[in-house]
Amino acid sequence: MSEARLRVRPASYALVGPAVLVDLDGHELRIADGQSVALCRCGQSATKPFCDSSHKRVGFSSSACLLETVEGKAATKPEA
Ligand code: FES
Repeated sequence: MSEARLRVRPASYALVGPAVLVDLDGHELRIADGQSVALCRCGQSATKPFCDSSHKRVGFSSSACLLETVEGKAATKPEA
């Protein structure tokens, strides 16, 4: 069984399906197995929640990782 994965990238998040993205009004976007959408991390996108590459214009990049930012949570790295 597949599971949704939210992958942190230097600028955006990649949400990899199968997954369902739900907005504040309850609208749903179904993401098929193996497909992905890029979600904005920088806050500058004109098409939120999606990334529109505005992060390049503002120079946003972050290399923060789970082990540095999550307190009290176990972060694991899957075996290759
Ligand atoms: S992360 Fe790409 S526009 Fe915000």
